[in-house]
Amino acid sequence: MKPPRKLHIKSYGCQMNVYDAQRMVDTLAGEGFVETASVDDADLVILNTCHIREKASEKVYSELGRLRVMKDDAARQGREMKIAVAGCVAQAEGEEIIRRAPTVDVVVGPQSYHHLPQLLARAQAHGRALETEFPVEDKFEFLAPPKPAAIRARGISSFVTVQEGCDKFCTFCVVPYTRGAEVSRPVGKIIDDVMRLADNGVREITLIGQNVNAYHGEGPDGRVWPLGRLLQRLAEIPGIARLRYSTSHPRDVDDSLIEAHRDLPALMPFVHLPVQSGSDRVLAAMNRRHTARDYHEVIDRFRAARQDIAFSSDFIVGFPGETEEEFSATLALVMQIGYAGAYSFKYSPRPGTPAADMRETVSAAEMDERLVRLQDLIDSQQSAFNKAMIGKTVDVLFERAARNPGQIVGRTAWLQPAHVMASPDIIGQVLPVTIESLERYSLLGELALPVARPQPSPFSQMTTGA
Ligand code: SAH
Ligand code: SF4
Ligand code: F3S
Repeated sequence: MKPPRKLHIKSYGCQMNVYDAQRMVDTLAGEGFVETASVDDADLVILNTCHIREKASEKVYSELGRLRVMKDDAARQGREMKIAVAGCVAQAEGEEIIRRAPTVDVVVGPQSYHHLPQLLARAQAHGRALETEFPVEDKFEFLAPPKPAAIRARGISSFVTVQEGCDKFCTFCVVPYTRGAEVSRPVGKIIDDVMRLADNGVREITLIGQNVNAYHGEGPDGRVWPLGRLLQRLAEIPGIARLRYSTSHPRDVDDSLIEAHRDLPALMPFVHLPVQSGSDRVLAAMNRRHTARDYHEVIDRFRAARQDIAFSSDFIVGFPGETEEEFSATLALVMQIGYAGAYSFKYSPRPGTPAADMRETVSAAEMDERLVRLQDLIDSQQSAFNKAMIGKTVDVLFERAARNPGQIVGRTAWLQPAHVMASPDIIGQVLPVTIESLERYSLLGELALPVARPQPSPFSQMTTGA
């Protein structure tokens, strides 16, 4: 029998890329590839790239420089190493990669991963292969593979794609160009995936999409279902203890989503709702299609539906023409909302986006200074949020053994890691934990109940082969 070929895959960027990487591994398993954590002995290396900011996309070329040396070393030892570039840089700059990096054998855009086996064969026969078409009619063929075994559970928590692409065209953003128009998967396919994952021990599902709450998939009744209705249905699937979704746009928060937060205990009270800026002038220039006031109103609707709800966000500082006063409006918004955490970025002009042509740039020094001020504020809010957990008893879904012997780690509803000393039997269970202290971003606590409840752990069943 031929020994399996080894596949090493490195992902950058968002959750969608993490998910896509897993699907690529599953697709190539059918071709006799097994995943390896080390790049040295890989027969195929895939760089799953991100184009969102300049830094992210430039990483690809430096990584390719390193890989070229390894590929040459392998060739000297009589071994062949193939190199593929996938993800959003492949989509945006496919031709340029082929030109700039002769070491690359395959370039494949996010819409074409289901063709990877054929592309590898083509590269074998003809030297190189490139595919970055947008075949909309089979966009989801890859995401909903015909073979049931193709969706494989990995641990307790899993991503499931429900929509891909974005029609919002924020003026700074490449996603509508790299991921194409917004498309939603049919409800039935999502239910099948979630049921299969639940059968394999998954207890938490995060529905992902570039603009997840724009979801409008075809329901089994032939009607269009919004995200809230999909969540209601998924909450009925036995074994699924927790549901999350990411990333949302404030404009697309509808009543169904608010009702889902009101009615579903399984829907976690932690929402990532990027706002980008607190200034209406900047928001309009970004084409965000909402004002600061609209954003506050959306937050109020969530809070009215579920009082323990918390929020995170994304921010961009130094968008073209952003004045000190406009930046202060962002700080004011952060102070008013009070976040459990947030990501903030310096504006990075992206080729082909409307904002890249705006001339009133903000100096690098000002951007640095604003980023520090914003991050200090967000950090202080995050610390306060985490500190407020001390002394409380909160539910934790246990996921795996921690690095410290005897410790098991899980997550609270708000995604904070929580550690307890306990038996690995609790993995896969949601148990109340009394939080005793905080170590950086991790909570330390004790199980509030002396013995595990008689709730079966799908994970322990799985490992004992039951
Ligand atoms: N779909 C999501 C996330 C898109 S990318 C949304 O609508 O918010 C994740 C984050 O990267 C964005 O929220 C934004 O804050 C940041 N980002 C996107 N383009 C950027 C750019 N050109 N420069 C700096 N940050 C950017
Ligand atoms: Fe990009 Fe805006 Fe779409 Fe988010 S909503 S992916 S920031 S264009
Ligand atoms: Fe990056 Fe593409 Fe995701 S640009 S953030 S990998 S959609």
